[in-house]
Amino acid sequence: MSEIKSITSVPTTELKGKRVIVRCDFNVQVFEGKIMDDLRVRKTLPTIQFLRDAGARVILISHIESKDGTGLKPVCEYINETYTKECGVVTFVSDFQSEDAASTIANMKDGEITLIENLRIDAREKSNDIEFAKLLASYADIYVNDAFAVSHRAHASVVGLPALFPNARYAGIQLMNELDHLKVTFNAPHPFVFILGGAKFETKLPLIQKFAQADSILLGGALLNDILKAKGYNVGKSLVSSGVDTAGAKIDFTPIIENPKLIIPDDVIVSGILPDGTIRTSTKLISEVGDEDMIMDVGPSMNTKLTEVIQNAKFILWNGPMGNYEKGFKDQTIEMAKLVSMACSRLDAPVRAVLGGGDTTAAMIELGLEDQSDKGNDAMFISTGGGAMLEYLLNESLPGVEVLRE
Ligand code: 3PG
Repeated sequence: MSEIKSITSVPTTELKGKRVIVRCDFNVQVFEGKIMDDLRVRKTLPTIQFLRDAGARVILISHIESKDGTGLKPVCEYINETYTKECGVVTFVSDFQSEDAASTIANMKDGEITLIENLRIDAREKSNDIEFAKLLASYADIYVNDAFAVSHRAHASVVGLPALFPNARYAGIQLMNELDHLKVTFNAPHPFVFILGGAKFETKLPLIQKFAQADSILLGGALLNDILKAKGYNVGKSLVSSGVDTAGAKIDFTPIIENPKLIIPDDVIVSGILPDGTIRTSTKLISEVGDEDMIMDVGPSMNTKLTEVIQNAKFILWNGPMGNYEKGFKDQTIEMAKLVSMACSRLDAPVRAVLGGGDTTAAMIELGLEDQSDKGNDAMFISTGGGAMLEYLLNESLPGVEVLRE
């Protein structure tokens, strides 16, 4: 299988004056015009700076799914306020089909950057329309994918567009970084700890099966509710899966719950409604969960059980929160994030960890630990991907990555 080439393998002399279209994932959270978390923007800066320093003309493209429909303009303003050193002044093109767009791009000077409006305002992006891909291709000489987080989507800018650059398609610096770190999981050193949280047991089942060979397996979030239920515990009103897999077959939980490597907590945090209507939250043993209880987080016993496991691990793979993070049940996810980061920063034989998923990353951001790799601590890698990370771990390839092969 041919190699994926990094944009950094192209001599800078060959980039000077070239129009380079860079697929980014600027699908960041925007609230009242403000960027709430810029991890994905920051992670694209090395590629942008590399191209800019080489004298390329850089055309950034992305999607965004902002709830208020503000598109990428706030992202452009944010970059211009925050990253002038890295990006200079980024020009925003709101209508990428207009003559104005074509002339803005045609008049770009070496080292200048343009950001094109949310590609998904055109339905042809998602349908991988060839004419749409050709329109985008007409703006550039070279294609770069630095958007790992959207590389599981066979959309025009991810798959159709690079196919039009047979001799000039490359991976960006962050995409290469993601692939290099995530592929370690396919041959993970042991002891290997696999932690999976969040909801949607049915979609995560293949991943649970794939990593059943880990030395310790921890399923948190709503996934744990299914496990407890399958073990015969009362889970009250907790969120559980439909019990059927994505192909519609009944899920057989037996191999999972009988796997001796599976670690389950002794206690959980539940919320329940008291007779007077007030909501109370308490810690209960898993055997004491009542009909009216809703499990919201793993209990503190989980971290006690995990401390030694994590300290002795050689490799940790973690995606998804331990509790209902969005509803504020963050404590055990944060505690686990501390444990993992401590193990990774140990000076003697640090543990290597690969982390990902929105809430796991949010926990690291809350602790100010999301930039470990930028600070030279390569032991802990935080993926920018959510669904893309899960799909890559499962299939060991992604449509947007495969298309980059020569
Ligand atoms: C993500 O946030 O996971 C990526 O940006 C992909 O977004 P999507 O799920 O809307 O395709």
